[in-house]
Amino acid sequence: MNNEEIYYPSEEVIQQANVKEYDKLYQYSIEEREAFWAEQAEKLEWYKKWDKVLDDSNKPFYEWYRGAETNIIHNAIDRHLGTPTQNKLAYIWEGEDGEIKTYSYHALNREVSIFANILKAMGVKKGDIVTIYMPQLPEQIFAMLACAKIGAAHSVVYGGFSSEALLDRIKAAKSRVVITADGGYRRGKPTHLKKIVNEALEMCSVVEVVITVKRTGEAVEMQNDRDFWFHDLKALPIANGKCETVHMKSTDMLFLLYTSGSTGKPKGLVHTHGGYSVYTATTMRMVFDIKPEDRFWCAADPGWITGHSYIVYGPLINGATIFSYEGAPNHPYPDRWWRMVEKFGISILYTSPTAIRGLMRFGESWVEKHDISSLRLLGSVGEPINPEAWKWYYKHVGKEKCPIMDTWWQTETGGFMIAPLPITPLKPGSATKPFFGNEMAVVNDKGEKVATGEQGNLVIKAPWPGMAATVHNDDERFVETYWKRFEKQGFYSAGDAARKDEDGYFWIIGRTDDVIKVSGYRLGTAEIESAIVSHPSVAEAAAIALPHDLKGNAIHGFVILKHGLVASAELEIQIKNHVAKMMGPIAKPESITFVDALPKTRSGKIMRRVLKARALGEDEGDLSTLAD
Ligand code: WTA
Repeated sequence: MNNEEIYYPSEEVIQQANVKEYDKLYQYSIEEREAFWAEQAEKLEWYKKWDKVLDDSNKPFYEWYRGAETNIIHNAIDRHLGTPTQNKLAYIWEGEDGEIKTYSYHALNREVSIFANILKAMGVKKGDIVTIYMPQLPEQIFAMLACAKIGAAHSVVYGGFSSEALLDRIKAAKSRVVITADGGYRRGKPTHLKKIVNEALEMCSVVEVVITVKRTGEAVEMQNDRDFWFHDLKALPIANGKCETVHMKSTDMLFLLYTSGSTGKPKGLVHTHGGYSVYTATTMRMVFDIKPEDRFWCAADPGWITGHSYIVYGPLINGATIFSYEGAPNHPYPDRWWRMVEKFGISILYTSPTAIRGLMRFGESWVEKHDISSLRLLGSVGEPINPEAWKWYYKHVGKEKCPIMDTWWQTETGGFMIAPLPITPLKPGSATKPFFGNEMAVVNDKGEKVATGEQGNLVIKAPWPGMAATVHNDDERFVETYWKRFEKQGFYSAGDAARKDEDGYFWIIGRTDDVIKVSGYRLGTAEIESAIVSHPSVAEAAAIALPHDLKGNAIHGFVILKHGLVASAELEIQIKNHVAKMMGPIAKPESITFVDALPKTRSGKIMRRVLKARALGEDEGDLSTLAD
């Protein structure tokens, strides 16, 4: 190893780790990829085993565990019933108002079965797509699991998205049924989700049924023939009784999750029952070293992939206890998180660099008020973690004894692709090495490996079970977005820049495409620009990301006003608020700059890199394609 700062795991960590050796197992996993993934799949239960681990006859539409039958719910819930796990806690939830709910695996099965029975009674069938738009309530997770149980796919839309964003996603998925709540609590105030659903549905006719969970009790408008309260349905005889878990093909759709890309509307990535089960279960067991006695808190929102894979599916398949929290991290005081870690004896905490930086800002005295010695492992995801935040997290939260699992992955990958194991020596800011079975590389634009330490494009060279099957209803876009760029080599293009150091450690630099990571949330410049342009005063717009101390990146808009209009501070505020309304508060631009022209190529494409270089005072690079 070179002389950078390296943090070695303690003997104790190594002793208890589920995986005690990396190099040999990694070598085996890439040389005997199918054998490795067959062994991991054997750790789960299947209704019917596969006839082929990996079918690569129709690249890049790889099929994992072809011929197998399963349902992720069988492994996440059913197989725990009748074992000692049945009576352990599956799930602890705390509301922002301090309300606590707990569910054993037995109770989880009951709640999910109730929800599933209700969905069936509402006519939801295998293959349907149900949209879930909820705050972080237990019912959000029950709804996801209930869909999976009956073979319907869920499409969870982040509760911070606006009615317009929700509408787009409902329409694209053609959801007949939407599940929501009256609202949730955020910084002591109720949010109004049902109202947003109502607004969205005014503009769309595909939805026939809306099921609303009562949380805040605020008055909401209910439409007679469409709207049902969840608690009313739950009281009906149809809700009760056993609900069979539907047998699915390994390659059947488990869920659809919309994510932002370079162009156009968000795309719905499709994940499947078989491969995704194996991948989330294996990464969870090996990277987060999950043990029956762990209490695992992934502080993401189920509306994003991190929540799907590591709040819900990965931990439950492993029979762990999950924890989730409804509200703001600093409510009512900045020690809220540490209070809950202490109160519930959380042993593994997984969050984003933005959250860590946010908590760091309040100072360590808030952490020190609490006994958080139950923690044994920490995790980070969503954006590169700056060494300063890493060290604060390591020192003040992990007390210099908890290794930090910096996990690099994407909505598309289903689970961790580059991540350490607890036994891995850590370098702050590096996600370390590829997970088993994965061959990753940094290449130039021609697809050739760059020299050690040099920056290039991050690619994945071989398929893995957690990979998305396709883009919903758009195979072409799937190929175009991820597989076209390095078609000759057959590499998956991640859209990130990275470098690999002399120890084989990967350092992620950030997106190379027009995706912006704001506070770890993934947004597309195209969506932001179309939101800006929908303001009546705006003629043209461009959006770029610039570094931000807390959020990692912040959005900056450049606007050409319609003819005759004059720029003003007032108008800047208006446009910012307009974007927040159109997309959701996370997309609100940090600043709007009024300009007379935008740098464009001769074919009319906005050269965002020129805007960015100018804003940062950097070299503008090759301007030969600039129109004028
Ligand atoms: C970024 C989130 C650096 C990266 C799971 C990736 C990271 C995008 C890391 C995917 C990390 C995620 N270090 N960057 N540990 N994890 N990213 O789809 O740019 O919301 O391409 O998935 O987040 O974002 P997504």
